[in-house]
Amino acid sequence: MAKVKSKYVCQNCGYETAGYLGKCPECGSWGSFVEELSKPISSVKETDAIFDTVSPMKLDEIEMNSEIRMSTNISEFDRVLGGGIVQGSLILIAGDPGIGKSTILLQTSGELSEGGKKILYISAEESASQIKLRAQRLGVKSDNLYIYPQTNLELVKKHIEEMNPDLVIVDSIQAIYTSLIQSSAGSVSQIRECCNILMHIAKSRNVSIIIIGHVTKEGNIAGPKVLEHMVDTVIQFEGDKTKSYRILRSIKNRFGNTSEVGIFEMGEKGLCEVINPSEVFLKEYNQTQTPGSTIIVTNEGTRPLLVEIQALVGTTPYPAPRRIANGVDTGRVLQILAVLEKRIGLNLSKQDVYVNVIGGMEIKEPAADLGIALAIVTCVRDVVFDTSTAIVGEIGLSGEIRAVNNIEKRINEAQKLGFKRIIIPASNEIQEEFKGIEVIKVKRILEAITRGVKG
Ligand code: TYD
Ligand code: MG
Repeated sequence: MAKVKSKYVCQNCGYETAGYLGKCPECGSWGSFVEELSKPISSVKETDAIFDTVSPMKLDEIEMNSEIRMSTNISEFDRVLGGGIVQGSLILIAGDPGIGKSTILLQTSGELSEGGKKILYISAEESASQIKLRAQRLGVKSDNLYIYPQTNLELVKKHIEEMNPDLVIVDSIQAIYTSLIQSSAGSVSQIRECCNILMHIAKSRNVSIIIIGHVTKEGNIAGPKVLEHMVDTVIQFEGDKTKSYRILRSIKNRFGNTSEVGIFEMGEKGLCEVINPSEVFLKEYNQTQTPGSTIIVTNEGTRPLLVEIQALVGTTPYPAPRRIANGVDTGRVLQILAVLEKRIGLNLSKQDVYVNVIGGMEIKEPAADLGIALAIVTCVRDVVFDTSTAIVGEIGLSGEIRAVNNIEKRINEAQKLGFKRIIIPASNEIQEEFKGIEVIKVKRILEAITRGVKG
């Protein structure tokens, strides 16, 4: 009988120690250690047996099969994947519980199986009848879609071998377990080992596997960051659960572009693609025309998107004024406020500042700076920013407007949506001739204010 030892594992980053620690020396999180049982020695051999399916081969003898991609028939999903699911790849779809992960994957399974692909859907969280109910709601029906309610990975592996499907979906990685490890399902050791086994199944059998992972409260994928490193592609499902828009974002992709986004709307019949996202994000814009609102052109992956930024500035009732940002980094807003104070004399030390990106979009690039600054300035001065002018530009610490990437694509998108003018950084060179949209180049914040504010 092999001796079973226990160890303590940080549930956040996977750091292991022999005794309990209050704070993890690796990731700094508190109270994250949980006792887990180490693998008995004999089971290591079993793991090896699972992986012993390939042997070393000469480079010259390796057959080159060009990347085969399976289109999901959902173009927004394909876009995020970089053109479809690559055969033999391991994909992680992560997001908060209830955001729609099971829904989109059941829809994808339906589309693929109707196209003749054999799909095995491992449901470790819901019963077969629950899945059937959802499938009916979504209008998914197919002869080629197999639902297998199972939590044991060894049994799953057996069925993958027997069935030889084109795609396997594991819903979710937190709910399945391998008998090779004694800790409970959902623990770091289980998640890591299960992911490892799935990776080997995907690579050795050349079958694509999509795993669903719930995001922890801290926003880490499935607890251990370690999962992100193991898989080929990581796709994050974002969005406000109380609103209907959902954004799929690729944050790692061995077979395509990252930071590409796909936009969906959750409705009665599941998730529908949003083909023209800028229009959606601007739906309520033209009716408002209030001070403190601007339109920026942000770049998401390869696609420009027009989004509304709103700012609200008011006298603070608190000793320390509040700065609250939704959809943009608070640090970035603080920096913009500092530049506004120093360079154009806008003193907001007694004012609360709220900045909001409409539509639940998260903007990560500094090209939104100028739009944020102008939303704040127009709110303070109680003036309306011209509603037919879009803005793009990064603000430097000395108040200069710095160049941004993909400027031509951004101008094109603004023109397509009917904007008459666009304010861009003076240092951005443009080769294309634009007709129907006036391109205004600015060097400093003040210039942008005078060009965009009416009256
Ligand atoms: P689900 O896919 O179960 O979330 P996850 O797998 O990420 O935990 O989605 C659950 C939510 O989606 C639930 O609140 C109901 C909603 N929903 C719809 O609005 N329309 C639909 O057609 C379906 C299937 C779900
Ligand atoms: Mg689910």
